Amino acid sequence: MGPVWDNMTKMGVVVESVPENSVIQLLHILVQFNTTYYYVVGIGNTERQFWFTTPPEVGPDVPYTFGLIGDLGQTFDSNRTLTHYELNPLKGQTVLYLGDLSYANDYPYHDNVRWDTLGRFTERSAAYQPWIWSAGNHEIDFAPELGETIPFKPYTHRYYVPYNASGSPSTPQYQWLETELPKVNRSETPWLIVIMHCPWYNSYYLHYMEGEGIRVTFEPWFVKYKVDVIFNGHVHAYERSERVSNVAYNVVNANCTPVKDESAPVYVTVGDGGNLEGLWTIMTEPQPDYSLFREASFGHGIFDIKNRTHAYFSWHRNQDGYAVEADSTWLFNRHH
Ligand SMILES: [Fe+2]
Repeated sequence: MGPVWDNMTKMGVVVESVPENSVIQLLHILVQFNTTYYYVVGIGNTERQFWFTTPPEVGPDVPYTFGLIGDLGQTFDSNRTLTHYELNPLKGQTVLYLGDLSYANDYPYHDNVRWDTLGRFTERSAAYQPWIWSAGNHEIDFAPELGETIPFKPYTHRYYVPYNASGSPSTPQYQWLETELPKVNRSETPWLIVIMHCPWYNSYYLHYMEGEGIRVTFEPWFVKYKVDVIFNGHVHAYERSERVSNVAYNVVNANCTPVKDESAPVYVTVGDGGNLEGLWTIMTEPQPDYSLFREASFGHGIFDIKNRTHAYFSWHRNQDGYAVEADSTWLFNRHH
């Protein structure tokens, strides 16, 4: 570990003075696949050592295991969710985080200390493996009455997202997505996963059809490019859908019933991390045809890519043992 360790130690010094540049320099150092790197945070008596392993080299048959956590918050249930994820024998290598992190805005004056306590709480996993964050509505923290007029400020100051890389300051998001989707080489990258906070196919009472505007805009692209699976949070419960689409519906015509569509993604809502707002228990009845499984329990998901043809999804409830799968399904890749 000699040379790498030396670089890391130097990085620790840089981090103090130029945070943004130091992250970029750090990324340039980490060029080895499948390698464990050790790093230190702090100075002198406060030094604490962590480690993480870089991903394997990209290839169509490289197995990789993602954890799926959404709407975690920082309660007793949040702690159970994270513990179940850590002790799940399926061993997630990276967390795809589905939005709504600290719930600071549910506390008086948007208590920003909650952002820091969330960081300390998740450190036991996030210091050792990547967590890929997507933003939820609770991250907005727009509170002019408290003098906070910049949306997402506490979030973006703590969690790096590819904001500049996607041209977000100058490019509308749909333009970025329109150019990004065709770039995915499905021979090299067989599985195309989308994570976003608000689900389009949700049969719970709360947030029902809330994402219609964005669904009407983007769903035709996701069907065209055969996105394999879309993971959502927002709804504080679990739900898994059929492969369905509703691309004929444009809000003003009457074609409002989703239909089975083999080119469409599977939709999975895992907004059941355990936050202080509790579970959403009220469902629309009868259960729509597109909804294959729904249950209001806290838990997390695992998406286990085996090779170019097979991936396995499982849902794990906090009230069960660590190895128990309360729901599961195989996904078969439609490109191979
Ligand atoms: Fe939420």
